[in-house]
Amino acid sequence: MPENETTAPSLENLLHETRAFPPSSAFAAQANAQPSMYEDAAADRLGFWATQARDLVTWSTPFTQTLDWSGAPVARWFADGKLNAAYNAVDRHVEAGLGDRVALHFEGEPGDTRTVTYADLQREVSRAANALESLGVRTGDRVVIYLPMLVESVVAMLACARIGAPHSVVFGGFSADALRSRIADAEAKVVITADGGYRRGAPSALKPAVDEALAPKEGAPATTVEHVLVVRRTGQDVDWTEGRDVWWHDAVDGASEVHEPVQVEAEHPLFILYTSGTTGKPKGILHTTGGYLTQAAYTHKYVFDLKPESDVYWCTADIGWVTGHSYVVYGPLANGATQVLYEGTPDTPHRGRWWELVEKYKVSILYTAPTAIRTCMKWGEDVPAGFDLSSLRVLGSVGEPINPEAWMWYRRVIGGDTAPIVDTWWQTETGAIMISPLPGVTATKPGSAQVALPGIVADVVDDEAHSVPDGGGGYLVLSEPWPAMLRGIWGDLQRFKDTYWSRFEGLYFAGDGAKKDEDGDIWLLGRVDDVMNVSGHRLSTTEIESALVSHDVVAEAAVVGAADDTTGQAVVAFVILRGEHADRATTPEGAEEVQAELRNHVAVQIGPIAKPRRILVVPELPKTRSGKIMRRLLRDVAENRTVGDATTLADSSVMDLISAGLKKPS
Ligand code: WTA
Repeated sequence: MPENETTAPSLENLLHETRAFPPSSAFAAQANAQPSMYEDAAADRLGFWATQARDLVTWSTPFTQTLDWSGAPVARWFADGKLNAAYNAVDRHVEAGLGDRVALHFEGEPGDTRTVTYADLQREVSRAANALESLGVRTGDRVVIYLPMLVESVVAMLACARIGAPHSVVFGGFSADALRSRIADAEAKVVITADGGYRRGAPSALKPAVDEALAPKEGAPATTVEHVLVVRRTGQDVDWTEGRDVWWHDAVDGASEVHEPVQVEAEHPLFILYTSGTTGKPKGILHTTGGYLTQAAYTHKYVFDLKPESDVYWCTADIGWVTGHSYVVYGPLANGATQVLYEGTPDTPHRGRWWELVEKYKVSILYTAPTAIRTCMKWGEDVPAGFDLSSLRVLGSVGEPINPEAWMWYRRVIGGDTAPIVDTWWQTETGAIMISPLPGVTATKPGSAQVALPGIVADVVDDEAHSVPDGGGGYLVLSEPWPAMLRGIWGDLQRFKDTYWSRFEGLYFAGDGAKKDEDGDIWLLGRVDDVMNVSGHRLSTTEIESALVSHDVVAEAAVVGAADDTTGQAVVAFVILRGEHADRATTPEGAEEVQAELRNHVAVQIGPIAKPRRILVVPELPKTRSGKIMRRLLRDVAENRTVGDATTLADSSVMDLISAGLKKPS
């Protein structure tokens, strides 16, 4: 393992965890997943995927080729087939006589509700597709979506898919600057936003960030955006640019509810989603249509044991993240699921809000993140105990390693000690779940994602790319192409190759550390690169460092992810102030002021989620002789540990200087 490895806070516990929970015979008897799937997929992997693609997806032109890997590492799956993702998510269910089935139980944070059937969704998506076309959007044009969790958000994504216009959803918590760079990189033609959304009991504005992102800026190219489509959600005042801005209700409500979906080639881009990498510039991860939809539907059906006639499914992720794409929009809707869509935060107006929703809608499958589970643990189990959670039968976890304590709590307090937990490992890049137990088949282990799904080949390798023996640790790799794999980084094929395919010849390098236990099961141990995972959100250390040094007072900055009981990791920044500002941090008030200024600056540059939890003003940063910052040592300081081996530092007294400075009552 490299020197700068990051490990999950629970590594110690993971290594001693031996509990296992075999499926009950009752669950196994009704399960979608069967043990034979592993054998089938191993015997004929491509045949297995072709069967999934034919069984779970409707093609307007059937494919005859399964995989074309001749252009590796850019894969082509089902390439001579044609389909439409929105038709698959909506229309085909209506055509099958399921139009009255509820697709979305929307619950706004203030308590307003809306029930949307598949027939409603078909009309809404068709109207929105017609509206986008009348605003000039054509197949292939990019549309940026910057919205809270609303019915319109799902409709907007599907409307884009319906006309073959790739969407790029930008999380509503990102700042105007972050939005600007994403709009520019994708050269978007239209932005879909809202006046605002409800968060923590109050309206929170979104439109001003769009206005700012589109305003002319020195040194920035003129915007490619022709129209901004604005959903009215909160009714708050908005600035209006005539000719550019259009209300959603004006454009969509009166549009025809009939729209012919555009049948696209399987490899037509479905969406771009920006994610943090190890450099300052976010990567536009590109996903295409046929393979992505196949794997999203397949994993959703088998990993969550979905029974669309009877289940009520709820994934708490925001559509701004890949989990919202694959497991709020494309997977569940392709499978005809009924799901809950919740706008707000878990503790508004009270800490039992989620459990109240589970009781109200009789949610049977819940998919959430370890950070949320740990937060609920902190609030105490008497909160969920006040609600009837007996409808829950499958629980999912995603986004970061789940520590065994949280896993056990989730199982006992939320799952009534019976619901199987699926700990699902995957990434924005993989498009869909890759490693997970299968409920009804796998004996689950607290804290382990365990096994690659049927059809997926994963391994743990050492520095020389050799598969490690059971009991060994190293890097997680994916050894065979998979249908939902990214097809590249938008506009940067070289970066795609460098980032994922150059570390180990012929293997996809995920950037995660992992180990195999004595049974050969995989345990994920966190990132091995400079990517942090805060509350399941990926943040780049470099990106936050560049934001910090772009502030006048900062000469140098180093950012590390420090272990945190609730959020997994917390952002801790070490900054050196410029000479002329160095005095400012010598008094406690001055230091506080600088810290507040810098935290705010990061919020403006990237978004509130990237704000450092702590900023430490230091006189020097620990560097190797080659000038590389030794984050491992800074992590020791941030986690209040004795500082480790500092002998490779160019100046070994630096750590003493840092420690002394921090101990000084400032
Ligand atoms: C981490 C989220 C351990 C991992 C779907 C990965 C996990 C990164 C798990 C991707 C899990 C996600 N166990 N770690 N079950 N799920 N991760 O792109 O470090 O936002 O590389 O995709 O989250 O984050 P992303």
